[in-house]
Amino acid sequence: MELTRDELLHGLRATGPEEEALLAEAVRLRDGTVGRRVFLRGLIELSNVCGKDCLYCGIRAGNGKAVRYALSEKTVLDTVGRLWDEGYGSVVLQAGEDRSPAFTSGVERLVRGIARLSGGRMGVTLSLGERSSETYRRWREAGAHRYLLRIETSSPRLYGRLHPRDGRHRWQDRLEALHALRRTGYQVGTGVMIGLPFQQTGDLADDLLFMRELDIDMCGMGPYIEHPDTPLAAAGGAPLPLSERFRLSLRMIALLRRLMPDINIAATTALQAIDPLGREKALEAGTNVMMPNATPARGRLHYRLYPNKPGTAGAEGEGNEGLPGRLQALGYEVPLGEAGDPLHYRKRTAP
Ligand code: 5AD
Repeated sequence: MELTRDELLHGLRATGPEEEALLAEAVRLRDGTVGRRVFLRGLIELSNVCGKDCLYCGIRAGNGKAVRYALSEKTVLDTVGRLWDEGYGSVVLQAGEDRSPAFTSGVERLVRGIARLSGGRMGVTLSLGERSSETYRRWREAGAHRYLLRIETSSPRLYGRLHPRDGRHRWQDRLEALHALRRTGYQVGTGVMIGLPFQQTGDLADDLLFMRELDIDMCGMGPYIEHPDTPLAAAGGAPLPLSERFRLSLRMIALLRRLMPDINIAATTALQAIDPLGREKALEAGTNVMMPNATPARGRLHYRLYPNKPGTAGAEGEGNEGLPGRLQALGYEVPLGEAGDPLHYRKRTAP
């Protein structure tokens, strides 16, 4: 659906009955386009070793308080095997950005291992940061189908304020990585953080237009949450209360559903960190994917991107027990054993 930048700004500022109507319209569009179905992806956080230093992130290289871990290949494959047996049709492998050759070939072996254990039927999504076209190609050839790489913000100016200016955190490089992924044949997902310091409503409208311009297949976006051990939190000045970042995220989701009715949009964990029912509320704004955390406990306690991240040390539980049944009770179909490719991708690659 065509929406002008002014209409997006208006929607982003909607409150009360107008806001309710915006979310309801997004749900109607989702149900009519991709169906009233929720795809589950098991999320495995391979490692929190990271070479980047993003000023907002709890696992940035410069955070000496973060306890580092890396799961063994056997642990990961055992976990994936269990997910496959439980009916999960797809898995997401996420980690900090580790450019070591050992990590690169480890991921390649894992992806081949997953193809082997599922007869090539399990969807494999990678979320491992900015890498060379050559690395993306190796992982694609090993059998990975999808890649998530958030642009974080479509504004190069704002990006510059959220990352060190050390030549290793360049907005243009990130954009180029997204193009490389698309050329390599991945289903491509991106996303942004919402409610960042220095972020204006106009930046968020531009984020939505950016995603449509890039013709993405998938999106995961959620509220920014200050992590106390990061420079951005120390600098202070997050503009909005958490509850408002939460509502604004729902309006972003609803507007993106209107702009791109046939993509997959995930209900992200950061929403759940603010509101225990955040993911369910995001379904009522137009999402159609959930990524329950399946990282074995030893790892997940330390994959702490922001405080109160469900499953990390000191946070509340994840509420993933009986999730399919609860979703069905809300009227959603939860397809089992299906990779769940985005309709948008199937359309753009149809002969
Ligand atoms: N608050 C919210 N999201 C965050 N991320 C990293 N740090 C934070 C934070 N403090 C998100 C980034 C990254 C994803 C893996 O986690 O958008 O791409």
